[in-house]
Amino acid sequence: MQQTLTAKRILLGISGGIAAYKSADLVRRLKERGAEVRVILTDAAQQFITPLTLQAVSGNPVSTSMLDPAAEAAMGHIELAKWADLIVVAPASADVIARLAHGMANDLLTTCVLASAAPVAVAPAMNQQMYNNIATQQNLATLKKHNFHIYGPGAGEQACGDVGYGRMLEPLELVALVEQSIEQSTIKQSVIQTHEQSQVPAGSLAGLRFTITAGPTREALDPVRYLSNHSSGKMGFALAAAAATMGAEVTLISGPVQLATPAGVKRIDVISAQQMHDAALKAAVKSDIFIGCAAVADYRAADVASNKLKKGASNELQLTLIKNPDIIAAVAGLHELRPFTVGFAAETQDVLNYARQKLLKKKLDMICANDVSQPDAGFNSDQNAVTLLWQDGEQTLALQSKTALAASLITLISQHYSPKSTTSEVTK
Ligand code: C5P
Repeated sequence: MQQTLTAKRILLGISGGIAAYKSADLVRRLKERGAEVRVILTDAAQQFITPLTLQAVSGNPVSTSMLDPAAEAAMGHIELAKWADLIVVAPASADVIARLAHGMANDLLTTCVLASAAPVAVAPAMNQQMYNNIATQQNLATLKKHNFHIYGPGAGEQACGDVGYGRMLEPLELVALVEQSIEQSTIKQSVIQTHEQSQVPAGSLAGLRFTITAGPTREALDPVRYLSNHSSGKMGFALAAAAATMGAEVTLISGPVQLATPAGVKRIDVISAQQMHDAALKAAVKSDIFIGCAAVADYRAADVASNKLKKGASNELQLTLIKNPDIIAAVAGLHELRPFTVGFAAETQDVLNYARQKLLKKKLDMICANDVSQPDAGFNSDQNAVTLLWQDGEQTLALQSKTALAASLITLISQHYSPKSTTSEVTK
């Protein structure tokens, strides 16, 4: 058996549900891979499985209550929360999911989750109707937003006879997800450490002027229709917020997005690529650093109809599109007042190669290569992973929240920034 979890400390929370009978096997599988496992049973869970069983399989005392002086003396609840490298709640009932989503601390399990800095995973297990209920779905969405890992659930026949989503994943499937979560948190930890070591202190970018583009552009076809893309603007807004927090003067040029303006940032709203181009060039010449994070539409309609286009008899509609100006290439091509220019390359394959080509072709100083084929990163996600490339180097920043990533990117960009970087110097 491969020891993929050697010395990893897993705190397993078991809540009330018929799937609790599988939790003993889950403990066994985790231990087989080298993990140390401690178990918390909620009151309801004890109706399905006994502390004695879990004590036997885990080899550790099982915790059931915050009000048990003997257990608290052995390992108090705060100590238990700090002990864990990962907390896994499996099965996670609709009730425990609701309590976690609302930050409640009304039993030992929810208190430990609230008191722990470790990543937390929940493996939902409940009747399919309860799982599909809008309240449960909203609670799960909240947990996702708070960076909880959600394991499953699977679909199939349920203990109550219903068929649908809500079955807890099988122990071996859960183990594979635990391995992934542990690996992610190890990578994240090392990124946080590097980031802390190279952290630019707040206020240290005072006097530096940034212009950042963000979001999609919309290219009108007629008064009611347009061409656009899925960019949410979150990455660009996070970059603007990070630079402003570090004391820089920030102008954010944004396409149509549903985001609040970060504190201390000057925002200019635009709709089309042409409008973004005009606003960006005007701001760029007064900037030290330009970051093109917007997903600019490459093409626009050659003619925008002045009235709503009508359905014709034909099954086809021909649109003639013409190229939009390349904003970042125009900024990087400036002579006298050229800012240090950083682009983004959203790609779905051969990501680093395409990004390097773009770095050269657009004459950029740096480019952020972004693999948007990953389901949990890129467009519309709250997380992202990128590789920052420059002429003779690169640095990869692992999957993390766009907020944390933005702080690392602004730090790295400002470390590489050189006020004298002109087009000719960059390309020589
Ligand atoms: O060529 P591509 O769209 O992949 O390049 C992406 C980079 O170029 C991003 O930094 C984006 O903001 C910028 N871009 C631009 N104007 C365009 C197209 C892309 O500034 N018309």
